[in-house]
Amino acid sequence: MMAYYKIQIVALVTLMIVFPNTQGWGEDGHAIICRIAQSRLSNTASEAVKDLLPKYAENDLGNVCSWADHVRFYLHWSAALHFADTPDNLCNYQYDRDCKDQNGEKGRCVVGAINNYTGQLLNYGKETQYNLTQALLFLSHFMGDVHQPLHVGFTSDRGANLIDVHWYNRKQNLHHVWDVNIIETAEERFYDTNIGDYINAIQGNITKTWSDEVKGWETCDSNETICPNIYASEGIKAACDWGYKGVTENSVLEDDYFLSRLPIVSLRLAQGGVRLAATLNRIFG
Ligand SMILES: *[C@@H]1O[C@H](CO)[C@@H](O)[C@H](O)[C@H]1NC(C)=O
Ligand SMILES: *[C@@H]1O[C@H](CO)[C@@H](O)[C@H](O)[C@H]1NC(C)=O
Ligand SMILES: *[C@@H]1O[C@H](CO)[C@@H](O)[C@H](O)[C@H]1NC(C)=O
Ligand SMILES: *[C@@H]1O[C@H](CO)[C@@H](O)[C@H](O)[C@H]1NC(C)=O
Ligand SMILES: [Zn+2]
Repeated sequence: MMAYYKIQIVALVTLMIVFPNTQGWGEDGHAIICRIAQSRLSNTASEAVKDLLPKYAENDLGNVCSWADHVRFYLHWSAALHFADTPDNLCNYQYDRDCKDQNGEKGRCVVGAINNYTGQLLNYGKETQYNLTQALLFLSHFMGDVHQPLHVGFTSDRGANLIDVHWYNRKQNLHHVWDVNIIETAEERFYDTNIGDYINAIQGNITKTWSDEVKGWETCDSNETICPNIYASEGIKAACDWGYKGVTENSVLEDDYFLSRLPIVSLRLAQGGVRLAATLNRIFG
């Protein structure tokens, strides 16, 4: 039995080395975005989501918002869909240049995936070859990923996965700091280790601090259902201005970094949730 577990652990560690963590926000970040989104759905969108969610989700989109991370280890083709990287040190994103996978196949990045699964979901209520449950779970997850600034990072450091830092006294990589550590530290320090309290604080600011901006977040130009190129462009800009800024290999990131970056993380989680809701409301009418 021990030997069996050892093999499993070795296998898991090997997987983690072969596929470093490029999946985007951790469980909490994704759950926050999906719960904010679900609370803003129209009645029709809310019914459609309820209908498409798997039973085990218990009508909580937040429970299955990381499904796409769990399947990427066997649905290998989906691994490239969690991010989009730009040429090194270029702080802008262009679909034609940057949205491709490692083999150069066009459209295979987080932006292309958002377009893809939005298109599939527009078939809701019609005869379709697509699995719309999967389309919903992919779209909800990728709308989160595109809002994680280092998901639109530089190519050769793999969105900062290859930049080793210390988060306080723990070894981490910079990508993981943005996926998980800033959120976790905030929850521990300010929200009694309670994800619900953090969600409430963000929702409070959506209706107060950011209330004048929310319409702009929700809207796409020229009546498009979805506009992920804008979200990716904001992402690489935030990656340059806040993610990479002041960080080099082996930097020690502590309160200065944490307290100045947390507002960016909260803002991106808010925008992700608001925009996912707006998108689902447009899709389901
Ligand atoms: C679009 O979705 C289909 C079905 O899940 C998948 O096979 C294909 O790779 C996706 N393409 C992109 C760019 O997301
Ligand atoms: C659609 O995908 C979900 C999630 O992977 C799966 O549980 C379900 O069986 C699939 N439905 C069909 C009709 O294949
Ligand atoms: C909400 O906004 C206030 C005032 O701008 C700010 O101090 C607080 O940190 C914000 N909280 C979150 C979770 O965004
Ligand atoms: C957007 O859609 C509305 C309603 O369908 C339509 O009246 C309007 O002309 C459209 N605007 C543009 C710029 O296409
Ligand atoms: Zn992801």
